[in-house]
Amino acid sequence: MTSHYLAELFSLQGRVALVTGGSSGIGRAIAEALARAGASVVVVARREAELAATTAALEAHGCRAAWVSADLGSGDGVRAAAEQAVTAFGEPDILVNSAGINLRPPMGEIGDEVWDATMAVNLRAPFLLGERFGPGMAERGFGRIIHVSSQQAFRAFVQSGAYGVSKAGLEGLARSQAEAWSPHGVTCNTLVPGFVMTPLNARLSGDPEKVAALAARTMIGRNGLAGDFAGAAVFLASRASAYVTGQALFVDGGLSSH
Ligand SMILES: NC(=O)c1ccc[n+]([C@@H]2O[C@H](COP(=O)([O-])OP(=O)(O)OC[C@H]3O[C@@H](n4cnc5c(N)ncnc54)[C@H](OP(=O)(O)O)[C@@H]3O)[C@@H](O)[C@H]2O)c1
Repeated sequence: MTSHYLAELFSLQGRVALVTGGSSGIGRAIAEALARAGASVVVVARREAELAATTAALEAHGCRAAWVSADLGSGDGVRAAAEQAVTAFGEPDILVNSAGINLRPPMGEIGDEVWDATMAVNLRAPFLLGERFGPGMAERGFGRIIHVSSQQAFRAFVQSGAYGVSKAGLEGLARSQAEAWSPHGVTCNTLVPGFVMTPLNARLSGDPEKVAALAARTMIGRNGLAGDFAGAAVFLASRASAYVTGQALFVDGGLSSH
């Protein structure tokens, strides 16, 4: 009885999900969560060994998974990735944009190259994937678009530079997409991490003093782990969140309200 009720709300059985950056950190944890909740999952990133290891781990859980190696830093790379991704399980019902880069030069030293690379991966790729898959989701009457944003979309934090700008843009993109497609059953939201111990911030997370100082800024008293995103991702991908759209869901241990 209980499990039937929970399945009605949260099961992703029969759904197809595409997760960019699904081979590492937060994206990998989200890919695993969606797959274990029933979705067939395609993970997209550049490095093949990490992609293959991720899909092998998902298959070991009895899940359906596939991978596509692509550089989302170019428009052509994004378009090719999308077309290759649909050959695995068909058009996605759930799109998660977790691929991201943080290059961190000081503000006064950001050149065209850093600006363009940051915007391309963190903002243009999610936009292009939304253009590719959003209308189809709307036509089918169900879709979930989830962007992994950052606290730096809302405030400056250790050299936010171009990165913070790209993430603020991503928050705006989620709202624009929500406005466009929510009337057709496609919700668009962001997950907002605080400080999460992943390869992205190895420089900070390798320094015990900084790690402790950042943990103290949360309310829970520790920094984030990739697995902290599992439940929130399943919620935003499921039927349960049908009336939640254009929102930012902070998964940050209370950092943003402390
Ligand atoms: N960790 C944090 O504290 C934190 C805080 C706030 C927001 N976030 C956001 O959370 C998301 C995930 O970050 P994470 O910490 O999980 O980082 P991560 O472990 O470094 O994972 C990043 C993922 O993105 C992929 N990627 C990077 N550039 C790519 C490109 N050009 N083309 C295709 N794939 C690319 C990487 O794979 P390849 O390198 O193989 O391509 C990897 O799978 C990012 O959007 C990040 O901005 C993280």
